[in-house]
Amino acid sequence: MAQRRLPKPRDLAPLIRFKRPQLNGKTHRLEAALTIEDLRRIAKRRTPKAAFDYTEGAAEAEISLARARQAFQDIEFHPQILRDVSSIDTSLDVLGGRCALPFGIAPTGFTRMMQTEGEFAGAAAAGDAGIPFALSTMGTASVEDVARANPTGRNWFHLYMWKDRDRSMALVERAANAGFDTLLVTVDVPVAGARLRDQRNGMTIPPALTARTVIHAITRYGWWIDFLTTEPLAFASLDRWSGTVAELLDTMFDPTVTYHDLSWIKDQWPGKLVVKGVQSVEDAKRVAELGVDGIILSNHGGRQLDRAPIPFHLLPDVVREVGNDTEVHLDTGIMNGADVVASLALGAKFTLIGRAYLYGLMAGGREGVDRAIGILASQIERTMRLLGVRAIGELDPSHVTQLERLIPRVDRSYRPRK
Ligand SMILES: Cc1cc2nc3c(=O)[nH]c(=O)nc-3n(C[C@H](O)[C@H](O)[C@H](O)COP(=O)(O)O)c2cc1C
Repeated sequence: MAQRRLPKPRDLAPLIRFKRPQLNGKTHRLEAALTIEDLRRIAKRRTPKAAFDYTEGAAEAEISLARARQAFQDIEFHPQILRDVSSIDTSLDVLGGRCALPFGIAPTGFTRMMQTEGEFAGAAAAGDAGIPFALSTMGTASVEDVARANPTGRNWFHLYMWKDRDRSMALVERAANAGFDTLLVTVDVPVAGARLRDQRNGMTIPPALTARTVIHAITRYGWWIDFLTTEPLAFASLDRWSGTVAELLDTMFDPTVTYHDLSWIKDQWPGKLVVKGVQSVEDAKRVAELGVDGIILSNHGGRQLDRAPIPFHLLPDVVREVGNDTEVHLDTGIMNGADVVASLALGAKFTLIGRAYLYGLMAGGREGVDRAIGILASQIERTMRLLGVRAIGELDPSHVTQLERLIPRVDRSYRPRK
């Protein structure tokens, strides 16, 4: 039996470490967030339901997104021991430029609806972190505004080809003039996916003040104050729209776009060209044959075809087929820096984050985006060190095993389609 005694003040003194209280509520909140999931929880508390669901939601039963995240969880890392990892380098060359970290910010529409600082926060934070920022055609800041927010960093522009080709290309020309160095052409939206959360919420752009939204807004007054006291929310590159997102997409987007149009765009764009939304080995080969600079394996964060292939599973086959001549990037489901490291180990050249950045934005504007980037960066560094890897180029498939679950039963590595 242990002998008990009363503690003496000199025993207690070394244990007492009262922290100076953090008086800034936002900083306090963000410092307490250790993961992207933590940021997500803060974001949910602070953002009106329609805007939060628009961001977080995916298509139909949201199976694609859940599977993509599961695929990252279903990996095993294989560390190499006894290596000096006292200093490591997370930087790499991507599409002709240097990036400080192996991920960039994916294009997202209506970003100022999530939090009023929107693309301004994203572009400025990306610039300061030394990573690229991609602006969406459906963005709520203009190409010129983004160039001003991120004057020394890399800006990429994302194009949805819409029915009015001349207007699409006029926009692309503006992006080139504003110094955007890369064009991402998204090819997985011939029509809009069924975002059921948006339909259930009656989501319109901008959000409507119905009785339900007003009641729900009571605990999210900060968002509404920002929304009502800053520049009105509008598409920077499109006309005003007062319908639902799906109606807008279906009215604008051109389901007749084909490979021929890609070549046509390529002839007009002076910078690097990347095709976003590739989802099979066959299409990756066809796109690569057009001589594009990169492809992004992506199912649009699960927002288009539900039960689409998991990009992370396609990765090894696609890299084997086209990776020597074309950069293979990946997105969908990344919530942790370890997901990024696993993707690089299996051959991805680069990754993009959508929701991980938007959760940060909704949790705390610019500071929240900084926090999201910081969390992912520290997870990447720690994972690399624990794997015994000092530079991105040292990562290879021997560092990762995909544990078998949700792996296709038939070998689909290459079957030409009729
Ligand atoms: C709210 C939201 C809006 C998006 N808007 C666009 C868009 O306008 N164009 C596009 O190509 N992709 C868009 N995406 C898809 C992202 O570029 C990216 O592919 C996806 O978010 C990656 O998955 P993750 O969110 O799991 O990281 C959007 C994604 C979200 C979450």
